[in-house]
Amino acid sequence: MQSPLAGHRRPIRLAPSILSADFARLGEQVAAAEAAGADLIHVDVMDGHFVPNITVGPMVVQAVRRSTRLPVDVHLMIERPEAFVERFAAAGADLLTVHVEASWHLHRLVETVRSLGKGVGVSLNPATPLCWLDEIVTEVDTVLVMTVDPGFGGQALVESTLDKIARLRTMLDERALNCDIEVDGGINPDTIGRVVAAGANVLVAGAAVFEAPEGIEKALARLRCLASEANQ
Ligand code: DX5
Ligand code: ZN
Repeated sequence: MQSPLAGHRRPIRLAPSILSADFARLGEQVAAAEAAGADLIHVDVMDGHFVPNITVGPMVVQAVRRSTRLPVDVHLMIERPEAFVERFAAAGADLLTVHVEASWHLHRLVETVRSLGKGVGVSLNPATPLCWLDEIVTEVDTVLVMTVDPGFGGQALVESTLDKIARLRTMLDERALNCDIEVDGGINPDTIGRVVAAGANVLVAGAAVFEAPEGIEKALARLRCLASEANQ
């Protein structure tokens, strides 16, 4: 049976990823993204184990928290996320997203994040099947579909993830679940319409915002316009 949510378009939210920001001017860059109409600030935390890169920890989340009123969306690409979620929550994260591939006791971890009063997301790498969500999707606010293999900004979107987004939207509709579908990696003016048409509504973009030759403001305006067009 189709749920009443089926086909219902969700509000688009743009989440610039500071991974591509100028870290020497991080506060200014976050403020510029907020002024340009960003809805969330996305922070990519990488530990050199779960992904082949190392980025930032709770101190930078705290610095971002102080630079904006927007919700801070923390994407944990780390092993043993259960050992760190409290620290990221205390640093000011509003939404904490963990990878399903990174935790043996995902249900307990999701409950822990909830008990900290934070929004909770789970993320899937491109090769991780959607069925890994079956037993947990009812417990989360957001499913983050990685549209690249995580680790670096500026990569090209993995095309097979478009069909995965569409299947996830169907799964959520069939189960009458109202969680967000966030996409992350390779989102730019060429791809944003397609991920929205497939069913995504929270759009992370790093290089396409912070490295855009036209500047943050114009880049965000263009992405929003293209996303809204595809969300009809
Ligand atoms: C990928 C990160 C992304 C990344 C997206 O490992 O999780 O958030 O910053 O970067 P772009 O938009 O440049 O592909
Ligand atoms: Zn991310």
